[in-house]
Amino acid sequence: MDRMTQAPPQPDAMLAWMECLSDPTRLRLLRLLERNELGVAELCDVLQLPQSSVSRHLKVLSDQGWARSRRQGTNNLYRTVLDELEPAARRLWVLAREQTAPWATARQDEQRLTQLLRDKQSDSQAFFATAAARWDRLRDELYGRGFARSAMLALLPSDWVVADLACGTGQVSAEIANCVRQVIAVDNSAAMLKAAKRRTAEMPNVDLRRGDLEALPIEAGECDAALLLLALTYVPDPEAVVKEMSRVLKPGGRAVIVDLERHDREDFRMEMGQQHCGIDPTNLEKLMRDAGFSQASTRPLAPEPNIKGPALFLTTGTAHN
Ligand SMILES: C[S@@+](CC[C@H](N)C(=O)[O-])C[C@H]1O[C@@H](n2cnc3c(N)ncnc32)[C@H](O)[C@@H]1O
Repeated sequence: MDRMTQAPPQPDAMLAWMECLSDPTRLRLLRLLERNELGVAELCDVLQLPQSSVSRHLKVLSDQGWARSRRQGTNNLYRTVLDELEPAARRLWVLAREQTAPWATARQDEQRLTQLLRDKQSDSQAFFATAAARWDRLRDELYGRGFARSAMLALLPSDWVVADLACGTGQVSAEIANCVRQVIAVDNSAAMLKAAKRRTAEMPNVDLRRGDLEALPIEAGECDAALLLLALTYVPDPEAVVKEMSRVLKPGGRAVIVDLERHDREDFRMEMGQQHCGIDPTNLEKLMRDAGFSQASTRPLAPEPNIKGPALFLTTGTAHN
């Protein structure tokens, strides 16, 4: 335990505090470190003092519990720990700070610190001035892609119930389960649901239900949003599915449908067991309006590099049943 946080205070505590504050360099250091975490070299620059002198005073401040350092790379960064001081020591510091404010050296320290912080910021500006062209690749290499997706998913209202219709192996259900109150995941394939069950085993708010898109095992108005991804090409009667989506949504609930654009790859359709060579989004929007959705709108999705399937579109609508 360091000296300043010892309880009860030593009888000579006040003398130790005053001794610590009785040096102008230490007072200047405390002023700088109160709002900024700084390394020894930076402090030398600002105080215009040699490293030996700065280090000696930092050691006193650290030993006496006024400052603390942490390692960053090859540097030690220092900052004050005034909020950990005894209240009486803090009061003493407040007085010392007030009395040192008009010092010319203190004002010059402030100016040099402002310049130093500006230079540090321009280091990052210089970095991004040259990194713009390679930033996307660098970002992927350094941090991956998943974090941005997690950030965007966190925009979902946490009290929502979301239906993942034709959930397949539960990829989407598993991703959004962390961000919403409940996911109702529906599929009519026992094999796909088994895989979804394995994937979401540790997610108690994923409710897997076996059933058909044309007669969903979901109460009317149970959901705030419904997703239907890559499923409409499999159903003979998309109209019935769109009506069911409308039924299970609350008024104002959001429907999001992603599917294949119309294409002429009959071999692809047959291989994937689909009923239709893609879906016409204009027809889909009409089905949605007829089913009680408003603001049905579609946008094409930019194809990702190296994908082999037909292009995709995304249609959204708001239920107002
Ligand atoms: C291509 S997968 C897509 C799965 C998931 N949405 C995804 O994006 O990975 C299509 C899913 O729809 C399900 N499916 C097809 N027709 C269905 C129907 N009439 N009722 C319920 N599920 C159906 C299949 O079992 C399959 O899991």
